[in-house]
Amino acid sequence: MLKRPTALVLLASLSLSACRPSATPSPAPAPAPSQAPQPQTDARYSGTFSGGFRFPEAREAAFGEQAMVASNSDLASQAGLEILRAGGNAMDAAVAVGFALAVTYPFAGNIGGGGFMVIRMADGRTAAIDYREIAPLAATRDMFVDATGKLTDKSVVGHLASGVPGAVAGMDAALQRFGTMSLAQVMAPAIRLAREGFAVDSALFRSLSGAKQRLCRFEGCATFFPSGEAVAPGATLVQRDLARSLQLIADRGPDAFYEGPVGDSLVAEMRRGGGIITREDLAAYVPKWREPVVSTYRGYTLITMPPASSGGITMTESFNILEEFAPLPAFGSAEYTHLLAEAFRRAFIDRNAKLADADFVPVPRDELVSKAYAKTLAAQISRTQASKTPAFTAGRPEPEHTTHYSVVDGKGNAVATTTTINGGYGSAVWVRGGGFFMNNEMDDFAAQPGTPNMFGLVQGEANAVQPGKRMLSAMSPTIVLDKDGSVLLVVGAAGGPTIITAVAQVILHVIEHGMTLADAMRAPRMHHQSLPDQIRVESVGFNEQMITALRAMGHEVVTQQGIANVNAIMRVPGGWHGVKEPRGSGLAIGY
Ligand code: DON
Repeated sequence: MLKRPTALVLLASLSLSACRPSATPSPAPAPAPSQAPQPQTDARYSGTFSGGFRFPEAREAAFGEQAMVASNSDLASQAGLEILRAGGNAMDAAVAVGFALAVTYPFAGNIGGGGFMVIRMADGRTAAIDYREIAPLAATRDMFVDATGKLTDKSVVGHLASGVPGAVAGMDAALQRFGTMSLAQVMAPAIRLAREGFAVDSALFRSLSGAKQRLCRFEGCATFFPSGEAVAPGATLVQRDLARSLQLIADRGPDAFYEGPVGDSLVAEMRRGGGIITREDLAAYVPKWREPVVSTYRGYTLITMPPASSGGITMTESFNILEEFAPLPAFGSAEYTHLLAEAFRRAFIDRNAKLADADFVPVPRDELVSKAYAKTLAAQISRTQASKTPAFTAGRPEPEHTTHYSVVDGKGNAVATTTTINGGYGSAVWVRGGGFFMNNEMDDFAAQPGTPNMFGLVQGEANAVQPGKRMLSAMSPTIVLDKDGSVLLVVGAAGGPTIITAVAQVILHVIEHGMTLADAMRAPRMHHQSLPDQIRVESVGFNEQMITALRAMGHEVVTQQGIANVNAIMRVPGGWHGVKEPRGSGLAIGY
């Protein structure tokens, strides 16, 4: 329920004004670190949200004439900038950011997890790399179900929760194919940050403090809680073991991780804690180049991630459905939120039942992304009445423990990367000697088909555990091309299933509602994932009037603090705008 009085006035104003071009000129974005002149974003207007909105600043975009990096960590964004300034391209910088996040944002940055990257080079080449974790060879369908048939928490915490990490192999493969620098060069900032340490900020302190109980069940306690409490804000956090692992990887390449000393530490940790990842698992890991999902929405082109992520197909299906409604109702109206919910509901019904690792399960990709199929789904949607998804038990709201970063360079190359260890600090297992957290990605499988996972997602047999299989993801790194074929947006998010809907909304805010990136990012978000059958809305952003209207249409509506964590870049006249998630930590920085 909305408790704060400001919330009551909020969406009244939002629904009236945010969908129209502002009469006043767009305010200039905040001065960029480079102090470069700020362009007016003529074609975009600044949304005039109520003063009570919890992300009040409409001036949050950083500007760069040439290049831009946006991530959830200031230091990781700066690592990317350092590489760009040294002559690296967007891929060099992206890999630098990825390794730096493993040091400065241990919450989600990682070498013990995996991710997805969507790439669009200035020469028109597009690519997608899947470095999702895979289930260990000894994994079994029911490994997380106890003798009484009850789902245990072993897919979430502890040594069994981990899939075989793909991050190191994936980033290296992407760098080899599209980068211009060596692994050692792009890893240098990360190694320096781990070896020499960095000043802990209050965000890291708070996040560590909140995770203390879980983390101190395992080996990371001494590093992150040296005196029994989380490293204090301002204190220097040195990660010697991690520095050693990173240096080994920089010197010897991914083999150091998959067949060498870092892998040995990982396997020893698994043995110590009853995990099942072996040397054979590590040696067998390969990242996979995939054909990106390419679709159109009102003349714009979306390039996004295919399975083992559900992101691209689910988003495309949603967009195709929405395209049938032209024009969409005004941003901020109950009618608009209803239509989004109905489109997302249908796309998630397909997602949860039909999508999975396409190397293991036949996935009807072409059908799901076809405009003809979307037309049949759109025809079932009433503009005034909610439909119903067959009922299941509601799951828990998701935490936000993935991280997305976006990079563009001066040539127009663009890289969108989302990486995760799933839950915050993953399985909480920290590899002794290796210095990094392991993922708890096994929970992204349907550990017990039909039973909600930690995101409340109810998924089917297609996504059941099988050795060597990739668990279905929602990660949606996406690049949007303008009508002239040039990069318009580089975007992606953390937030479990809300990744898909939040990325879709930021894109819609820009291309359907004409917002500036800053406003598209701070605009209130909603979410629907078919089950639980409810619309989730950000509590300070959707007023009682809108919620009442949605309920009258037959929707269950629940409110929550924030939805998803997006980092995005948008092309503007004369350069790029970068915006880090207004709801979270991070930095967009360019030059
Ligand atoms: O791959 C996925 O869909 C999840 N492991 C993502 C987890 C996530 O975004 C958690 N943070 N919010």
